[in-house]
Amino acid sequence: MRKADVLIIGSGVAALQLAKNIQDRMNVMIITKSRVKSSNSYMAQGGIAAALSPDDSPGLHMKDTLIAGEDLQEEGRVMSFVEDGKRAVEALLSDGMPFDPELGMEGAHSTKRIVHSGGDQTGRFLIDFLISSLSENVKIIEGEMAYHLLKDRNGRIGGVRTKDEAGVIHTYTGDHIVLASGGVGGIYASTSNHPSVTGTGIAMACLAGAVVGDMEFIQFHPTLLLSTGRTKGLISEAVRGEGGVLVREDGRALMESIHPLKDLAPRHVVAEAIYRERLGGGNVYLDITGIQNFSTRFPSITVRCEKEGIPIEGGRIPVAPGCHFIMGGVVVDDVGRTNLDGLYAIGEAACTGVHGANRLASNSLLEGIVYGQRLADHLKEALPPKTAPLAHAPITGTPGQLPDRTMLKKRMMEEAGIIRSEEGLQRLMQWLDGFGLTYESKMDDLDVEDMEDYLIWVVSRLIGTASLLREESRGGHIRRDHPEKRPEWDKKSIHMKIQTGRL
Ligand code: SIN
Repeated sequence: MRKADVLIIGSGVAALQLAKNIQDRMNVMIITKSRVKSSNSYMAQGGIAAALSPDDSPGLHMKDTLIAGEDLQEEGRVMSFVEDGKRAVEALLSDGMPFDPELGMEGAHSTKRIVHSGGDQTGRFLIDFLISSLSENVKIIEGEMAYHLLKDRNGRIGGVRTKDEAGVIHTYTGDHIVLASGGVGGIYASTSNHPSVTGTGIAMACLAGAVVGDMEFIQFHPTLLLSTGRTKGLISEAVRGEGGVLVREDGRALMESIHPLKDLAPRHVVAEAIYRERLGGGNVYLDITGIQNFSTRFPSITVRCEKEGIPIEGGRIPVAPGCHFIMGGVVVDDVGRTNLDGLYAIGEAACTGVHGANRLASNSLLEGIVYGQRLADHLKEALPPKTAPLAHAPITGTPGQLPDRTMLKKRMMEEAGIIRSEEGLQRLMQWLDGFGLTYESKMDDLDVEDMEDYLIWVVSRLIGTASLLREESRGGHIRRDHPEKRPEWDKKSIHMKIQTGRL
C-alpha cells in the first residue's frame, strides 16, 4: 500500500495545476489509466478565455458565459470564476508560460479574449509547461486504472484501488483524494476526445455515494474533421473565429439564416444546424479561403488535414459534429469539495455549475486552472484530517454481461446524442438495463477493459436518466419531443445519487 498527502486521479490541466501549486507543502501522487499526456487537455487546440484586453472586462466575460449557459448558472459563481480566471492566466504568464501575443476570437464571445500557444497547440504547450514545473514531490503513476474508492471506518474517502495493465491490483491511500479524470467524450461514436476519456472517474465517485449533476448537458462540437465517413479529431472553433465559414455542398453559407452570430453562434446551435443538414443528406464544409497564412496560424490542423488527404490549399474542410464536453459531473462547491468527506473533483469530471447548460468556448482549460488553484489554496490551509484505518473488503464476483463498447458508443450517439427524444432515450435505457447489471459493483476480478466497460455502463445510465428527466431543450440537451426551453427549469439542476444500490 502506498500513501500520499494528496492523491490525484487523472493528469490533465486541473490535476497538474493542483500538483504545481501544492507540491511545496505536500507530497502528491498522480495516477492515470493511460499516459500522463494522454488527455483532452493535451489535445486542446483552442485556448484559454480571459478578460485581458483593455476593451474587455470580467463582467463582459461573465455575461457571455451566462448567455452560453442558458439561465442555469448562478451569476456570483460565474463572476468569481472569470475574475479568478484572469488572475490565474496572468500568473501563468508571469511564471513563464509561452502564450502567443495576439488574443483570438471564438464563438459566443463578444470580443477577442482567447490566449493561445503555438497557434493551435495551447493544450500541448500548457501541459508541457506544467509538467516541467513539477518537483520530485510529485510522483506520476501511469497505466493504472482507478476503479474503486475506499472509505475509512468513519466513512471518509481515504484511498483508491487501481488495476495495472498486467492485471495487478494496487491500493493507495491519501489524506485527500482528488478526481481530475475528465469527462465522457470517449463513450460516443463521434468525439473530439482522447479515447481514454470515458467517464470512469465520475462513475467510480457515484458508486461511492457522490452526488452527480447536470449529466444531461453534453456539448457537441460542430466541427470535427470528416474523412472517409468518420470523424477524425477537432477543427478548432478558432478557425471560424479567424473567418472560416460553414458552407453547404453548393457553397451557400449554412448559418446565414439560422442565428444572428452566424458561424460564431453558440456551439449547440451550430452543431444542430450541421447535424440537420447532414441528416437531410447534405455535406457541410468549413470554407477557409478567407484565412491568411492558415498553416502558420493552425499548424496542427494543417498536419491533421494533410494526413487525411485533405490539403488545406483546397480551401474546404469537410466537417461533422461530435461529442466534446460534459457540463455535468461530480457536484462540487467553489473549492472542489464533493458531498463525500475526503473526496474532491476538479476539471471536467466536476460539476462546478459555472458552465450551465452549455460551456462557452475556451472556458474549459480556464476551469482547470482556476479550480486546480483554488483546491491547492484550500488544501494548504486545511487542518490535517482525522483519518481512520481503511475498511476495504475485496469486491469479487462478476457483475454480469457487459455491453459491447462499439455498440454502446453508437447507441449513445444515436439516442443520447445531439437530438434526443423520450422514445430514443427509453430504448437506450431498456438496452442498458437488459444486461442485468447493478450498481453493486463487483470489479476486482475483471480485467481492465471489462472494468472500464462496467463503469461506462454506469455513466451511460446516469446520462440517460438525467436526459429523460429534463423535459425541455436547453443548451447541450436538445429534445425533439420538448423543443422549447421551459422557465420552470431555469436555474434547476438534476442531482443524482446512488443509495443502497439504487439511483
Ligand atoms: C476549440 O478549439 O474549438 C475547442 C475549444 C474549447 O472547447 O473550448
